[in-house]
Amino acid sequence: MNIQTSQKLSAFAHDTIAGLINHNKFLHPKYFYDATGSRIFEKIMRMPEYYLTDCEYHIFDQQSESICEALANGHSAIDLVELGPGDGLKSRLLLHVLIQRHTPLNYLPVDISKHAVDELVKDLHKDFPSLKIEPKAGDYFDVIKNMQGSNGRSKAVLFLGSNIGNFFPQERKAFLKQLREFTSSGDKVLIGFDLKKSPKVILDAYDDPQGYTRDFNINHLVRINRELDADFDIPEFEHHAVYEPVTGTAKSFLVSRKEQKVNIRGTGHTIKFKKWESIFMELSQKFDLDDIEKMAMEGGFVVKKNFTDSKNYFADSLWERK
Ligand code: AVI
Repeated sequence: MNIQTSQKLSAFAHDTIAGLINHNKFLHPKYFYDATGSRIFEKIMRMPEYYLTDCEYHIFDQQSESICEALANGHSAIDLVELGPGDGLKSRLLLHVLIQRHTPLNYLPVDISKHAVDELVKDLHKDFPSLKIEPKAGDYFDVIKNMQGSNGRSKAVLFLGSNIGNFFPQERKAFLKQLREFTSSGDKVLIGFDLKKSPKVILDAYDDPQGYTRDFNINHLVRINRELDADFDIPEFEHHAVYEPVTGTAKSFLVSRKEQKVNIRGTGHTIKFKKWESIFMELSQKFDLDDIEKMAMEGGFVVKKNFTDSKNYFADSLWERK
């Protein structure tokens, strides 16, 4: 079977094969998050080396009034769209303030996992019984495309957690283009960016002594073995993380310690690995405020304010659509 002609492959199977037949093998990070992957990611977010979650939480905890002021600025009613809300811990702080301010509000969480979004809605209904919630399950790109069109309400879009850092540059550009098409002049977006800082601090976040980041990467291969009936010799892969301070790119790889042939029976493909050949598992791009400014401008937005934590490790950048 050939990747170009196979019609029946799931998106997971298709993307997996496309990455593994590439000269420089790679896998798409959106497939990290099966049930086990999501559990491991929760452990990552709780570990001391993974500063991102704490820093962004502090920004929201300390500055939620100003963030809401800027998000709702001048708008009588808003649709608050959140891409990838996770457990909603940070957005809950904003919802609380917006409800207290009596801002007429619809909350639209969008997550690739239907289970995650259903759980979030259940929890939020308990805490905010009067809040109107319209959950959407699916890939951000697809969901945004299908939500296109104005209902006359202003939009505020949240894309937190440095998820933008996991896009390749072309994907980032395409995403911002879609965000621009999705919003109207005057709408706001709030995007979480992990900032450039000491390379050691960054590297420790992606190469932790507990081995959770390794487990997170390895689980992607476990998922391929299970869901696509493959036979990766998993103990023969080692985790390797690098950070390049000039470009701000943190990358993680799984490296094969031996020559191996992997049969992906669910797709009919066999993938050969040379000894020490690697799979590029994930990009976690780091930014500075100039990068953010430039990106906003190129995307058709203006930076209104950057909310940062006390160590300047993380920024939630508030943009207005031109
Ligand atoms: C979800 N994303 C922002 C995380 C990051 O920092 O790139 C995913 C992650 N991968 C390894 N550790 C965390």
